[in-house]
Amino acid sequence: MAVINRAKVAGAAAAAVVLAFNIPFLTDLPSLRLTSFIGDFLILDYPFTLPFFRSHDGSHVEDPFICDTQHTYRTELVSLDPLIIYIHNLITPVEISSILRTAEPLFAPSQVTKNGRQLHTSDRTSSSAGLPRDDPAVVCVLGRTRNFLGTMLRNDYDEMGPPQLVRYSAGQRFNIHHDWYDTPRVANDGTSRRWNRIASFFAILESNCTGGETHFPFAKGVAPPSPWGEEQWQGGQIQGEMKTESQPLWREHEDGGLAFRPVAGNALFWVNLHANGSGDTRTKHAGLPLLEGKKTAMNIWPRRYQPDD
Ligand SMILES: *[C@@H]1O[C@H](CO)[C@@H](O)[C@H](O)[C@H]1NC(C)=O
Ligand SMILES: *[C@@H]1O[C@H](CO)[C@@H](O)[C@H](O)[C@H]1NC(C)=O
Repeated sequence: MAVINRAKVAGAAAAAVVLAFNIPFLTDLPSLRLTSFIGDFLILDYPFTLPFFRSHDGSHVEDPFICDTQHTYRTELVSLDPLIIYIHNLITPVEISSILRTAEPLFAPSQVTKNGRQLHTSDRTSSSAGLPRDDPAVVCVLGRTRNFLGTMLRNDYDEMGPPQLVRYSAGQRFNIHHDWYDTPRVANDGTSRRWNRIASFFAILESNCTGGETHFPFAKGVAPPSPWGEEQWQGGQIQGEMKTESQPLWREHEDGGLAFRPVAGNALFWVNLHANGSGDTRTKHAGLPLLEGKKTAMNIWPRRYQPDD
């Protein structure tokens, strides 16, 4: 294993940011204003790297990142159709700080494209960062989420896609949009295969904030949201009085659907495509405005290639 030149890595990653952002578009949606779309960052290939080493006194050596392959998380069924699953504790604090350290210099204003042109728009006011796919903490999280998918992805055929971070500060938001492409994308491996984002993971890395819920206006829960939040799962059973810090993890939104509170380490998973490969419009969602603080999340978009058999 080798320690890699930091400037080179940062340079390659910055180039990836400049090349980023393809295709997103905005179309009118009656009653809900705008639909927009998140494009992929192109992530350049470069040699496998270890995380940057730092010592306590400044900037030299720290233990390299070790992936906890025994890490356990807990899933909770939110909606059956479309499938939405809440994942508690998907990403560990160690993974979060490692990923943030890698991504910090890579953030740039988020964009969408409208009528074929790339725009900074009031529909999406956050910053984004493409994540190097070979960063050890990124590899670790991609491995865990890939395993979650099981046979939904076919080995050596489908792929996880380049992950990206999005960061919101006070007042920032992302109006309603969907994650899938209207027209499947052509593979960049020289073949004519096409792919689409079959599902999405939206994992919260930083949630020192108020506001900033993720709102799915068309989602219907299998049951009313629990008022107990995480407390429901601590010690297995609810006993006695509800603690004052209990907060629901999601709620029924006054305009319909469900709104999920950002909680660092937890994630939402949903399936974007119908069985026939077309996009499920009920997965449209919005990042509601952040009132104060900072929210950072990781987007992971598994790619399923056609043909679908
Ligand atoms: C695909 O399936 C969905 C859900 O069953 C349906 O609404 C849609 O019309 C289908 N699209 C095509 C092109 O068959
Ligand atoms: C969290 O946010 C509050 C309000 O924005 C701020 O005062 C506080 O310092 C933040 N805490 C951390 C740990 O960042």
